[in-house]
Amino acid sequence: MNMKFDTPAGDNVIDRQHVVGHPVDRIDGPLKVCGLAPYAYEQNEAAPNAAYGWIVGSAIATGRIRSIDTRDAEAAAGVLAVVTGANAGPLKTSGSNTAALLASSKIEHYDQAVALVVAETLEQARDAARLVHIDYAPARGRYDLAAEREHARAAPRGFGGPSATSAGDFDTAFATAAVKLDEVYTTPDQSHMMMEPHASIAAWEGDQLTLWTANQMIAGSVKDMATTLGIPAEKVRLISPYIGGGFGAKLWIRADAVLAALAARKIGRPVKVAIARPQIANNTVHRPATIQRIRIGADKNGVIDAIAHESWSGDLPGGGPESAAQQTRLLYRGENRMTAHYLAELDLPEGNAMRAPGEAVGLLALEIAMDELAEKLSLDPVELRIRNDVQYDPEKGPSRPFSSRKFVECLRVGAERFHWSRRNPKPGQVRDGRWLIGTGMASAFRNNLVQASAARAIADADGVITIETDMTDIGTGSYTVIAQTAAEVMSVPLDKVRVRLGDSLYPVSAGSGGQWGANSSTSGVYAACMALRSALAQKAGFNTADAEFADGYVVSGNRRVRIGEAAGADGVTVDGKMDFGDLTKKYAQATFGAHFCEVGVDAMTGEVRIRRQSGAFAAGRILNPKSARSQVIGAMTMGVGAALMEELIVDKRFGYFATRDLAEYHVPVHADIPDQDVFFVDELDDKSSPMKAKGVGELGICGAGAAVANAIYNATGIRLRDYPMTVDKLIDKLPRV
Ligand code: MOS
Repeated sequence: MNMKFDTPAGDNVIDRQHVVGHPVDRIDGPLKVCGLAPYAYEQNEAAPNAAYGWIVGSAIATGRIRSIDTRDAEAAAGVLAVVTGANAGPLKTSGSNTAALLASSKIEHYDQAVALVVAETLEQARDAARLVHIDYAPARGRYDLAAEREHARAAPRGFGGPSATSAGDFDTAFATAAVKLDEVYTTPDQSHMMMEPHASIAAWEGDQLTLWTANQMIAGSVKDMATTLGIPAEKVRLISPYIGGGFGAKLWIRADAVLAALAARKIGRPVKVAIARPQIANNTVHRPATIQRIRIGADKNGVIDAIAHESWSGDLPGGGPESAAQQTRLLYRGENRMTAHYLAELDLPEGNAMRAPGEAVGLLALEIAMDELAEKLSLDPVELRIRNDVQYDPEKGPSRPFSSRKFVECLRVGAERFHWSRRNPKPGQVRDGRWLIGTGMASAFRNNLVQASAARAIADADGVITIETDMTDIGTGSYTVIAQTAAEVMSVPLDKVRVRLGDSLYPVSAGSGGQWGANSSTSGVYAACMALRSALAQKAGFNTADAEFADGYVVSGNRRVRIGEAAGADGVTVDGKMDFGDLTKKYAQATFGAHFCEVGVDAMTGEVRIRRQSGAFAAGRILNPKSARSQVIGAMTMGVGAALMEELIVDKRFGYFATRDLAEYHVPVHADIPDQDVFFVDELDDKSSPMKAKGVGELGICGAGAAVANAIYNATGIRLRDYPMTVDKLIDKLPRV
């Protein structure tokens, strides 16, 4: 049964909150901690006797392969095959990939796969990979965003909206503004660096491919796989029940999947391929670097009249922008405004979605700019943001209100919990031994996107409800919130619900991306379970209109029948789907929050340590406060990474990322994050979905790093505008000791 969500939700069964809204433990938790949840590379029972593939990446960034000689590799111990562009047969590049996942003779970027060596063992494959002899004809490439910026053009549409927008007359309003800010900020290339690398096992039965692969979006990846190999989509089954983090890197298939499939077909046996950690940065995708210019004009009271945000990023020809100006379209008031994204062609590896693409880096810039503006105005940074709240889409006007916007509440409650009022606004005043102490804050904002989502709901004779959907759980808690939703709608205890995810045989879900996963996929489960209720009531001989579900029973008037009994020996199986109408057009939909941070900066060395992080967030109904909190503290931690550590350093001579493992590409660890406070403001958003929830997974990263940057300024008086804020950028500017 299909449902369409095109009018605001009224009271519904989710509002009972018997199970939804409770801090339920992750139901996949015990499997994970016992090592019983098989990740893609570990599907040894499902695909026994797999051979091992090792990817050979291009040693040049730009140019051609003149010749490739695989004879020595093929003769090496244990080697079963060497797949190259020359012997793989015709391959297409799907619309989701910019560069080819296996290079033909043309090299598009460094470490692009040029061969796969397949052997009995991983060690044999890795060893023989060094015996593939390749003669390259290198060409000159473009690897420097700052240098290519002048050649940038209007970007194509990004993930979240159009390339450029405007309203009013920015130039005139800015020229006449009482207080002005005009600054440039930069963010570096970043790598997802999820725990589980990209990994796949492929097996063929005749012309039917089964692929176990770490993937966020099953249905799209089936299509992309079929397109790449030139086979019908029905011939591809994709299975991805457990994923060790994705962060956007696994939205689409990567080289491991395609090469495993090609190799398995070639040798008539399953093949497993993981992309080795040091290959990930250059072989796969990354978040592109940005240069962002922000101009804000305000009156003497800090009310913004003019705001402009322009962002430059680079990508391979045919690629897309980092949409860093996105949040500036909706976050603050101002009659006169413009945003624009410009894209330069670069020959670095492919840029793509990573951890809240757009807002995550856009707010790194915008929220320093707001801190600078507050200082120019001698106004408290929290108060500046409150004065610039707007309850409607400021580009479109009052005819497009927000579905719900508890931004000011987040700012106020966040400030209170952090004891913001105790702050000394004058930089460089507070010391604790050798540490310079400072606090900073920033707004959080992330779009709320919704996607159609379907699920299958099955009731059996024991009254067990099973949910099947191709939704993925990338470590986020999808299993758990889906189980909670089914338990709520069917009125059964959580232990009577089974959830099966991540298989292309199941109905097509929203998938995991853009923080839409939990809200959208549970809406699909809601639709399936409402359909199951009707089917069960009917089978019990009740009038479906007045049948109720309570405590495991179908109830009508004074009659009641156990769900298992109603289902009968054959059980009842129904599919349901939630489609979304135009409520996202009529209403601006977004999630909000406020980040606060206290840092200590070592007065001698410039080392920055986080002392406290705190945030208040409004994201509709919080389906599970425990898993939502886990998402947000993870995201806030990533914000610290962006502020202080994470950087793919570009070798601009040879066109590759030099920092390519976790010894060089630093991410925060537990010892870096002493104290995190997460608070969810009460909110139901009846225009977002029947769950009245919104996305929350990416909200926590958005703005978190800017709060760190602003705290560094408050601690030291040093205003840095280039991320990450490493000691080398601070040390020469530190106050004399
Ligand atoms: Mo997310 S970066 O949309 O997986």
